[in-house]
Amino acid sequence: MAPGNWKVRSARLARGLLIAALTLGAAVTSVPAADAVSPVKIGVIGAGHIGGALAKLWVASGHEVFLSSRHPEELKALAASLGAKAHVGTPREAAVFGDVVLVSVPYKALPQLGQDLKAELAGKIVLDTCNPYPERDGLMAVAVRQEGTGVASQRFLPGVRLVRAFNAIGWRDLAHQVRRDGEPVAIPLAGDDARALEIAQRLVTDAGFTPVVVGGLSRAREFDVGTMPYTHLLTAAELRKALAP
Ligand SMILES: NC(=O)c1ccc[n+]([C@@H]2O[C@H](COP(=O)([O-])OP(=O)(O)OC[C@H]3O[C@@H](n4cnc5c(N)ncnc54)[C@H](OP(=O)(O)O)[C@@H]3O)[C@@H](O)[C@H]2O)c1
Repeated sequence: MAPGNWKVRSARLARGLLIAALTLGAAVTSVPAADAVSPVKIGVIGAGHIGGALAKLWVASGHEVFLSSRHPEELKALAASLGAKAHVGTPREAAVFGDVVLVSVPYKALPQLGQDLKAELAGKIVLDTCNPYPERDGLMAVAVRQEGTGVASQRFLPGVRLVRAFNAIGWRDLAHQVRRDGEPVAIPLAGDDARALEIAQRLVTDAGFTPVVVGGLSRAREFDVGTMPYTHLLTAAELRKALAP
């Protein structure tokens, strides 16, 4: 088989597995529909593991979601499985559609994305899940880890009202820990824009988790890769304790 064909087939296989995993998540977790208080229009740039899982949770709570891909036709099955409140198109269309835009791509894609969609994203509330991994993103990830993701992402996405969100929970946990028994999982947030933080808190709650505002973007580093809050499924009280000086 030609290498190109193999790549296309393995991308399709990965996408099929993702849809199957999300569908399985739907079967084992029940996500009650929220009372439809002014649904939010959410654009999703990077509808992979995290973007796809969040799209499902938000559609289930009554929001309207625009999933995007550089190959939109590959997302049609996922969108169809989510129903009429899910739409599909390109990243640019998602940026235009969303009052809130979730950006969930490999970290190294952020600088180009920020340039390409600068006009469409200007002034929008952007939730950024992206984590820098040198093995995937190269040397820039090393510099970003030193600088802290909040400050770096804002530089790469100029003019947006940025909130770091959902970066510290794995995609499987998004599907399986949603509205868990007992104390819910806390999702740390950091941002400099009060209104953006307010909306981000609502979307965390609607997704089935508990928001904890850590502080401004410079404090996003406190829940970056390798910190105590990162992927440890803490409750809000445990998270606040872990962040305490
Ligand atoms: N996986 C996790 O559990 C997890 C948890 C927290 C945070 N994160 C972080 O969140 C981000 C997304 O993670 P993921 O696991 O969801 O990744 P993923 O499954 O690989 O999905 C990433 C998506 O980004 C899109 N993409 C890639 N390059 C792009 C580009 N240059 N421009 C526009 N879109 C591009 C791809 O869409 P198309 O190819 O269809 O365009 C792909 O569907 C990463 O930064 C990751 O480190 C991941």
